[in-house]
Amino acid sequence: MKVLSVFGTRPEAIKMAPLVNALARTQAVESRVCVTGQHRSMLDDVLSALEIRADYDLDVMRPNQGLSEVFARILAGLDPILAAWNPDFVLVQGDTATSTAAAMAAFYRHTRVGHVEAGLRTGDMTSPWPEEGNRRLTAVVASRHYAPTPRARAALLAEGYPGSNIQVTGNTVIDALLQTVAVLDREGPLKRSIEAEFSWIDPNKRLVLVTGHRRESFGTGFQNICRALRILGSRRDIQIVFPVHLNPNVRDAVFPLLGDVAGIRLIEPLDYPRFVALMARAHLILTDSGGIQEEAPALRKPVLVMRDTSERPEAIEAGVARLVGTDSADIVAGVSALLDDPALYAAMANGASPFGDGHASERIVADLLDQIQGVTAEPFAAPPLPAFPTPLSISSNGNVRKGHFQ
Ligand code: UD1
Ligand code: UDP
Repeated sequence: MKVLSVFGTRPEAIKMAPLVNALARTQAVESRVCVTGQHRSMLDDVLSALEIRADYDLDVMRPNQGLSEVFARILAGLDPILAAWNPDFVLVQGDTATSTAAAMAAFYRHTRVGHVEAGLRTGDMTSPWPEEGNRRLTAVVASRHYAPTPRARAALLAEGYPGSNIQVTGNTVIDALLQTVAVLDREGPLKRSIEAEFSWIDPNKRLVLVTGHRRESFGTGFQNICRALRILGSRRDIQIVFPVHLNPNVRDAVFPLLGDVAGIRLIEPLDYPRFVALMARAHLILTDSGGIQEEAPALRKPVLVMRDTSERPEAIEAGVARLVGTDSADIVAGVSALLDDPALYAAMANGASPFGDGHASERIVADLLDQIQGVTAEPFAAPPLPAFPTPLSISSNGNVRKGHFQ
């Protein structure tokens, strides 16, 4: 069975890495990786930190390019690869330009598409934009839908996709997170060198970790976010650390507005092990990221989401995330409440992990093998999917506690 995994942005690479490794361990599968290079340097950071080798590289990134441009480059670059190698399955992840363009390229070659992280929905095509549209388009051409949660499966069923084509697997980001925590725990020299690099973190202050990059927040939204951070930056009891995304629309807002604030440290994007180590050090996380909303709860870190909608309501329902929007006053109020109310903080740091148990990749591989007649599924260690939300947490010293999975 020939499987081509296609990805191109930082979060896709993080979420596909455990699956690529699981495919490589499976004898019945010939696995190849095509990176689009939609994020050139942030993708390369992940590939080298997680030791993933690409068989094909479309190298599509251009500075600040438009959505149609990136989409067109991927269609044109992938088609000859599909024609030459003729995979049985193309795997795509999530809702980026890379995933939808790759799914379309496969569809035009009559190649089956497996959609990893299927069924996330806000119901609002403007938020997140263009991701809500991208994932709906991918679902239309996918033949296997790998839903991270029962809610995602329900969303696909409600849109008319047959239940027999949908598998609830958990999210592969939890596989990546747990594997990375284990590496950090195991490899003392790596952990110590990361700690030395973070020697500027003030141990006497609570660390507030911030990220932001959503297109629908460009302009006023980002100005509001920065205004809120300037106000919060005047608090003496916290240190704000903000790894700034490489998108020029983000950098052009953040550096002029926050570069001179004493309580705020702007840094370059971190590779995945370093970012996981920083999340583990954080007191709370303020973000508009999808992936970080999934990871933070597993690390017992309260997460405040600077968006008006979330396609990950499981975290909000489990009490481990809150939407604060992009209004300055609401962001300041949300962060201040968590900093000043220990009971609220304790309630949000409750350790529920609604997005998986670390075995999503194995479930996806097992399902792929089931699709090919004559291939006997190899035995997988993956346990049956547990009830959600999963009680699973990682302490700040890196120890994993897996509740009833142990
Ligand atoms: C993309 C995805 C978004 C995902 C996000 C994760 C789309 C439409 N958007 O948004 O769903 O949540 O990635 O981060 O697919 N750049 C660099 N180096 C890099 C990465 C980006 O210079 O390593 C700059 C380039 O100028 C690039 C620009 O950022 O053109 C925008 O990158 P792009 O992938 O188009 O969009 P994102 O906003 O990052
Ligand atoms: N991340 C990282 N380095 C950073 C910031 C984020 O490795 O400096 C990781 C983070 O842990 C998560 C993913 O990148 O797994 C999220 O990426 P992003 O926020 O860009 O995209 P989204 O998840 O919103 O699509």
